Amino acid sequence: MFLPQEVIRKKRDGQRLSADDIRRFVAGITDNSVAESQIAALAMAVYFRGMELEENVDLALAMRDSGRRMRWDDLQLPGPMLDKHSTGGVGDVVSLMLGPMVAACGGFVPMISGRGLGHTGGTLDKLSAIPGYDPFPAPERFRQVVKDIGVAIIGQTADLAPADRRFYATRDITATVESIALITASILSKKLAAGLDVLVMDVKAGSGAFMPTLADSEELARRIVEVGCGAGVATSALITDMSQPLASTAGNSIETREAVRYLMGDERNPRLHEVTMALCAEMLLASGLASDEADARARLTVALDSGRAAEIFGRMVSELGGPVDFLEHYDRYLAPAPIVRPVYAGGSGFVGGMDTRGLGMAVCALGGGRRQSGDQLDYRVGLSGFVELGARIEADTPLLFVHAADEAGFAEAERRVRAAVSLTPTAPSLPPLVYQTIRSA
Ligand code: URA
Repeated sequence: MFLPQEVIRKKRDGQRLSADDIRRFVAGITDNSVAESQIAALAMAVYFRGMELEENVDLALAMRDSGRRMRWDDLQLPGPMLDKHSTGGVGDVVSLMLGPMVAACGGFVPMISGRGLGHTGGTLDKLSAIPGYDPFPAPERFRQVVKDIGVAIIGQTADLAPADRRFYATRDITATVESIALITASILSKKLAAGLDVLVMDVKAGSGAFMPTLADSEELARRIVEVGCGAGVATSALITDMSQPLASTAGNSIETREAVRYLMGDERNPRLHEVTMALCAEMLLASGLASDEADARARLTVALDSGRAAEIFGRMVSELGGPVDFLEHYDRYLAPAPIVRPVYAGGSGFVGGMDTRGLGMAVCALGGGRRQSGDQLDYRVGLSGFVELGARIEADTPLLFVHAADEAGFAEAERRVRAAVSLTPTAPSLPPLVYQTIRSA
């Protein structure tokens, strides 16, 4: 007879769990035969004792197999299945451009994205700002769009890695989210279930990152690469900077607008462009769609300059229920906020530091993120025109523009923005945009 408490005891005492222990425990999470208290106890034991690489691979695989696994081989697509996953940040709108850019270079991108979590924005929320866009198509429709266009960005359905849903909910209320082994298994279970050949992780570091220090981000990135490769998906990771917002905007409609303008070549924030190109290039390299970095970048530049990537984005939007003329008339479909007004620095000096998490929370407070899971979002609100770290500013220089629904929202966001941006008398040293690329040894 399977006794969950025996598995918990083993991990509590620092012993290695077998693949069978892990499979049975995960099966119990999925069919509710393991109690929430037992999930919590195992999570805490793993939090303190960690997991060996093999155990972590077994956990990711067992969680993958707790639900439906997508298959693509029957479609005989003429290119690899690729995806990118970010640990999340502020103004991280990369996915909206990356999917179409990689598809334009011959990849197939079945992207399962999430809603915003805490201070971080969610790709799904950004796309949901487009009227009519259906992020939950039937599985066959999803497959068809990926097959025909090369990319579809949708939300996670309940049948994909359901053990993770219950496991995560328990971790969330028992202070056990911050376990590298559990984060790795959680992220990978969903990505493995999507049936990928190649996964590129964007692990953020800095004040808006999920992990508190660069060393933690590095440890998570290494573990995900090792476990992903151990589970049969070619996985690599870039550690990228989140010590300031990545794009020029943060907020659902305004980030979607920025993504469209990026794809159309109207405006490309250099930091956002570099991180997007670096992640896309890694995907093309890892899958053999490009022979080297220069070849990858040349192909991506053609995808952008020819308008092919923009066209693919437009088709994805219309195939998933959005307007057929979204690219041409995005401003008609993305309603602006009633108030768009600057917040001034109020002093002079250099932008020495940003509490990027604080800026993300300002977007949340405006109504652009959720305080509780069922909250309705206001897609119009957010922040734009961020000053950059290291910029020299005067009292009348705008730090950014607040897009608010009303005066109270503006005042609250203004207070949060002022608290989040610190001025220094001398220029700070700037972190690199891409710290490191981690590939399997
Ligand atoms: N995101 C996930 O999907 N899982 C975690 O455990 C943490 C972040």
